Amino acid sequence: MPIRIVTTSVEFEGVVSEQRVVLEGDEPLVWGADAELRIVGKPTPRVDGRERVSGAARYTADVRLPGMLFGVAVRSPHPHARVAQVEASAAERAPGVRAVLHRFNTPDLKNATGARPVFAEEVLHQGADVALVVAESRAQAEDAARLIVVEYELLPFVVDPEAAILPDAPRVATDRAHNSISDEWPKTYERGDVERALAEADVTVEVRFETPTALHNALETHGAAADWDGRTLTVWSSTQDVFGARAQIANALKLQQNQVHVVEHYMGGGFGAKFGAHTSGILAAYAAYTLGRPVRYMLDRTEENLATGNRPASIQTYRLGAKRDGSITAIDLRTVGNVGALGAWFSSVAMPAKELYQCDNVRAVDVPARTNLGTQASFRAPGVVEGIAGLEVAIDALAAALGMDALEVRRKNHAPRYQLIDQPYAVKTLLEAYTIGAERIGWATRDDEARRYPLGRDGHLRRGVGMASQLWGGDGGPPAQAIAKLLPDGSAVILTGTQDIGTGTRTVLAQIAAEELGIPLAHVRVELGETEYGVFSPASGGSMTLASVGPAVRMAAVEARKELIEIVSQLAEAPQDALEVRDGAIINRETGREMGTIGSFLEQLEGHEIAARGMRGPNADGVIVRTFGAQFAEVEVDVGTGAIRVLRIVAVHDCGRVINPLTFSSQIEGGIIQGLGLALMEQRIVDERLGVVVNPNLGDYKIPTIRDIPEIDLIVFDRPNERANTLGSLGAGEPPIIPTPGAIANAVGHALGRPVRRLPLTPDRVLDLLTD
Ligand code: MOS
Repeated sequence: MPIRIVTTSVEFEGVVSEQRVVLEGDEPLVWGADAELRIVGKPTPRVDGRERVSGAARYTADVRLPGMLFGVAVRSPHPHARVAQVEASAAERAPGVRAVLHRFNTPDLKNATGARPVFAEEVLHQGADVALVVAESRAQAEDAARLIVVEYELLPFVVDPEAAILPDAPRVATDRAHNSISDEWPKTYERGDVERALAEADVTVEVRFETPTALHNALETHGAAADWDGRTLTVWSSTQDVFGARAQIANALKLQQNQVHVVEHYMGGGFGAKFGAHTSGILAAYAAYTLGRPVRYMLDRTEENLATGNRPASIQTYRLGAKRDGSITAIDLRTVGNVGALGAWFSSVAMPAKELYQCDNVRAVDVPARTNLGTQASFRAPGVVEGIAGLEVAIDALAAALGMDALEVRRKNHAPRYQLIDQPYAVKTLLEAYTIGAERIGWATRDDEARRYPLGRDGHLRRGVGMASQLWGGDGGPPAQAIAKLLPDGSAVILTGTQDIGTGTRTVLAQIAAEELGIPLAHVRVELGETEYGVFSPASGGSMTLASVGPAVRMAAVEARKELIEIVSQLAEAPQDALEVRDGAIINRETGREMGTIGSFLEQLEGHEIAARGMRGPNADGVIVRTFGAQFAEVEVDVGTGAIRVLRIVAVHDCGRVINPLTFSSQIEGGIIQGLGLALMEQRIVDERLGVVVNPNLGDYKIPTIRDIPEIDLIVFDRPNERANTLGSLGAGEPPIIPTPGAIANAVGHALGRPVRRLPLTPDRVLDLLTD
């Protein structure tokens, strides 16, 4: 097929950049609202569910090869120190030990961020890599690691982000330049004249809102297994991006990319902390390559929670101004974020302030602070979860100051167009989501309901209802490729380079392929998670996977079906446009007659396999494609103990067409549960005198359990967004976590009659709020 290069524009926070993409052929027309679909849109259990629940699925930690060695790390117990000496001779002589890698015997392998060697002379946070023991068994490696004596020269440290940005703060690194990220920061966004608008406003409010550092805690920790056979380095990696991992490993080991093969057939979650190979992957690869033995190196939970990323704490200060009638005239936001020791960017806490409400005068200043703590990573809607919570709590405060209903203030300030550059939204369903959610939760009577409380034996219970809005992207984009093969028996294999990070990607891609090929779902096998299938797919992040890879799979299936029809038409001497594939058989539409199965035709052609390529086309120009939604929370607060029970979450979401209601609701529930954790219990706790994390484990770092999970009432629009892509679908990975913490915070504020200013809402904080 002839190729052509087209430009597609990519918009991020008001900045439009052009990206060039290669296309082959044309995408099919979008599945409109009236498309008759038989497999897409139906609740479909995971095609790999059996492997996953039976233990047959091979995750990275399950990879076991003959002669395999195991890695165990030695990590810095100090927040900031110079590694003066590593005394490893006893460890090297210990039973089973094959190598001890450290800064005095290992080349300058760049760590995954590319900025510093894996084993740095100066360690900048507790948990930083100091050495890796490689031994015949994990137990032997652990024993030997205890024999290593590291001499540290301790250096001053800083862990509090507001302290870190003071002029005389201790330096995060002795290299002074390292104290700030780059000259780009702090960053200021501005439109209109905020100071003047605040001065002229009828009503102003100022709100300081804090969110905690949260840890990803994917079920599967970071790690890799690697095997060098003298020709190819195969790396089984727990990664959201097999191609990124390949590039990083090849780069670190100075290999060609064709010498590195990255595999990941099953993954236990990443949530944003697992882009690329990560330090553990680079070290496993290096050890296998230099020792000539397969090596597996998986982190334990403590290491995971010290050294693989986090959602950085934010301190947000809002000043809002409004006219008496409720229209917002000014939004001013300053955010300080704790990006840790190597943070090279700062997530978009200000995105909602810039976009959610109609307002001509907006200023947002982002101040990232480097500290001697583990480095931040993307984390499911990074920044926007925190930013929505802060902004929506501030909007409730503004409504109270105006004496207006909080939802009415939101309706009044609804933004019909995208304000960062003047463009329309392709579809905007936010007002509808407000109406549906308000009705389901009983918003109109929320004050009367709350007044029926206090309840309980001592009148210790209070009830509240609150809400928050959701906006996010999720429309995907090129490049993404797929191959659809029809085998002689009429069954299909779909090849893509994407990865199923636990969301159900394999299942939804199988549905899309089965739909277009006209064959039963059980006749489709989807292969993904390998760099060697010959098809590139992007990293799984930004809720982009389905909307990027799905259309490529659809196009590949359409092209394969077209080739099949051509073949059948010649073999059976029937006109192509009379032929249709349905349920694995060829139907003559004119006669209504079944002409035979796909296999009955393909088997007439000795050894012929159909293999067709598909590609994700460019994005629509001139429109902004977003997911929208709103969540409403109903809570009960015990003012005696400070305990909060979330009774119900009403979640209204528009992510375009739903391909699979089961994997979709699983995403929504997971997002809400993770958001509830952030609202009520999740926080990394640091001892500020020692500069160390005191709860880097799942005993002391609390996450929600089945007892904490409320009734979840999900209402989904399920209407194709025809400007998004040929599926009409948008991603659902990040949208559901976005409004949950804000909705819960506002519900607790409603219950107590006083505003929440800090997450998580642990019982002690609730009691403090009451006595303030
Ligand atoms: Mo995501 S935080 O883009 O995995």
